[in-house]
Amino acid sequence: MTRQIAIDGPAGAGKSTIAKRVAKDLSFVYVDTGAMYRSIGLYMLKNGIDIHDKDAVEKASEKADVRLSYIDGTVHVLLNGEDVSTQIREEEVGKAASVVSAYPQVRKNLTALQKKLAETENVVMDGRDIGTCVLPDAFLKIYLTASPEVRGNRRYLELVEKGENPDLDEIIADIKKRDEADMTREISPLRKADDAVEVDSSDMTIDQVVAKIESLV
Ligand code: DC
Repeated sequence: MTRQIAIDGPAGAGKSTIAKRVAKDLSFVYVDTGAMYRSIGLYMLKNGIDIHDKDAVEKASEKADVRLSYIDGTVHVLLNGEDVSTQIREEEVGKAASVVSAYPQVRKNLTALQKKLAETENVVMDGRDIGTCVLPDAFLKIYLTASPEVRGNRRYLELVEKGENPDLDEIIADIKKRDEADMTREISPLRKADDAVEVDSSDMTIDQVVAKIESLV
């Protein structure tokens, strides 16, 4: 039997950084489910499909083959064989992912893929509905949060680091909008599972969050 750790929470709470570290320390496989939804969003943008047309997106998503591949311990995302690990991180792709992730067929296909991965490997899986829908029997569930201001500021610093000239207020407004969309959609909205441990990372370092989760393991 495999062992599973589920980490859910809003955009920018630090889920992927933390999940990667915990997975490495425990020799578990890290599964980034947001990357899968981003790949579907990217597929629609690349193929000129209107992301607001539910039927068109659901139909087109059948042709998008999303896989995770592990090269030297790093996760790469393959979309129909093409490595899209960098492209899916663009802001526009994140927004498209948020829209297409609300469609039932998209969620059904990706949820099935995620469950299958967790059947064969010990995983640390992060996303929005992992503890509530994908892995309801995970032995540890974490709900990782931080205030929109802290999350916005982290994102702002990331973009400055990349040489961009972002607007902090705009970033925070975008984060709040994304939270609203992810938490209010009809299917599998972002919410804390009843048996999840809530960790607010607003005033914690990455090391402190990792240590907290590993103490719970
Ligand atoms: O975590 P992220 O920013 O890479 O996720 C991108 C979008 O995908 C996010 O707006 C919501 C959606 N998503 C989801 O609906 N369910 C998941 N398990 C993971 C992500």
